[in-house]
Amino acid sequence: MITSDVIIVGSGAAGLTAALALADRVKVLVLAKGDLTGGSTAWAQGGIAAVLDEGDTFENHIRDTMVAGAGLNRLETVEFVIEQAPHAIQRLIDLGVPFNKEAGDLHLTREGGHSHRRIVHVADATGWAVQEALLKAAAAHPNVTLLPHQSCIDLITGKHEERYSGSGRVWGVYALNEKTGKVEAHTARATILATGGAGRVYQFSTAPRGATGDGIAMAWRAGARVGNMEMMQFHPTCLYNLDVKNFLITEAVRGEGGRLINPKSGHRYMPDYDERAELAPRDIVARANDAEIKRDGLDFVHLDISHQPPEFVREHFPNIYEKLIGLGIDMTKGPIPVVPAQHYTCGGVMIDLAGRTDLPGLYAAGECTESGLHGANRLASNSLLECFVFGEAAAKDILARWDSFEAPPTVRGWDESRVTDSDEEVIIKQNWTEIRRFMWNYVGIVRTTKRLERAAHRIQMMFGEIEDYYGHFRVSTDLIELRNLLQCADLIVRSALSRKESRGLHYTLDYPETLAEPKDTVLVP
Ligand code: FAD
Ligand code: SIN
Repeated sequence: MITSDVIIVGSGAAGLTAALALADRVKVLVLAKGDLTGGSTAWAQGGIAAVLDEGDTFENHIRDTMVAGAGLNRLETVEFVIEQAPHAIQRLIDLGVPFNKEAGDLHLTREGGHSHRRIVHVADATGWAVQEALLKAAAAHPNVTLLPHQSCIDLITGKHEERYSGSGRVWGVYALNEKTGKVEAHTARATILATGGAGRVYQFSTAPRGATGDGIAMAWRAGARVGNMEMMQFHPTCLYNLDVKNFLITEAVRGEGGRLINPKSGHRYMPDYDERAELAPRDIVARANDAEIKRDGLDFVHLDISHQPPEFVREHFPNIYEKLIGLGIDMTKGPIPVVPAQHYTCGGVMIDLAGRTDLPGLYAAGECTESGLHGANRLASNSLLECFVFGEAAAKDILARWDSFEAPPTVRGWDESRVTDSDEEVIIKQNWTEIRRFMWNYVGIVRTTKRLERAAHRIQMMFGEIEDYYGHFRVSTDLIELRNLLQCADLIVRSALSRKESRGLHYTLDYPETLAEPKDTVLVP
């Protein structure tokens, strides 16, 4: 048993922000699956939304967030986050993030759903710059220990105490050390989940390999409520390429003038779907792309910014330009083939404004949460912002209550007495592929009750098989992830079945209308 003051699961924007905000007062252990840069944060392209322009106001940003979120957002959360955005950006500048500037001021780009230019960015690789700066500061802090290659399996709760106290308290995590193959118990006075999204539950996703919803599944199994899991966001413009499966083409390309064209007819179709054309919120643009592709039997649609001067394109999108050139596509001369792909998990573990979950001792921040910010559809570039604001909020609440947090009790070690090494790893691969396929085909951009019921039926059958496997064989990262993917698929499908309307990202042919009263889908374990 290894004991720290605070354990943070996840080394992305949310986890490291929390670590830095805690470390002057307490000792923090940050655990990460795989490398420390393996989360979505390092992959973020477009930037971070904040009201920084003279002509812009908090009210505008709040209204844009609520419009994109189809009214399902919690207003107090939206206000809380947006009003702290300028402070969050200043902290990043202080950490050395080299945001682009123009004539001495921060350069603000534009993305869908935003009524003003308000996205600060580091060219088209903002996330990498943010991840580097946060990691550098965390690594330099004597109170922060960074421990990569730890696959957390489950939260340690009252039921794992050596002398069971009857409490529902969370005391840390059991984690598989990916290097040694041993499972260790890490305990702490407080635990923060910052494990990112569940995008890999879908066959096509812009998210990295490890986005398997581990934190959401762990919190659910431990007894925390999750909300709005049916609100899975699809990004309209993921590169279509048979070799490169999940390369995002940032929304900022449309923000800087990129147009969507039907390759068969040559028609620019977005004005037919929405008066905001290519800058409509993401759910609308993704559905339009999907509709064009399905109606005309296309493999992809075209995103074209070649009407802008080549230097402008290369200067704004240097990384995308280089990547595409390597694949034989010159975006300064012609269009880019794109398709919609899963991109962001709007729902997650229910938290309050201090990042507290339902379980004593357990906090959560970032993409694994349902904070009330995004509602039924996240506004572009509000996600990193949420990580910074809630990472800090959770840390502040923990410090404010520090004296009331008891030291963790002795907990039971991981029991491996009844398991053996797997002799049938093919089961894991088969189930991974199957879940991701049926989620894409049955629980995608356009849904029906019949398809959702089909998915629910498959999930129930797979639960038995995977729990049996989990009960008999030694855990591996693939098995941990598979178990969590299936749990998240179940939460998504149950949430989708219970929403009897179409709102934001949840669009079903059986209930095409939007009900007058917005209501969260909250699942209780
Ligand atoms: P992540 O950065 O995903 O980090 C998760 C961490 O948890 C990782 O360290 C991972 O190893 C760890 N972890 C997960 N499971 C376990 C486990 N079982 N055990 C131990 N550790 C675990 N948002 C914006 O606001 N602006 C953008 O421009 C933008 N662009 C994007 C581009 C792409 C391609 C993608 C995929 C997303 C983009 N997003 C953007 C969304 C944004 O990047 C993410 O929502 C955000 O980075 C999530 O940060 P996080 O800290 O919550 O989680
Ligand atoms: C993008 O750059 O298009 C992604 C922005 C986001 O997900 O907020």
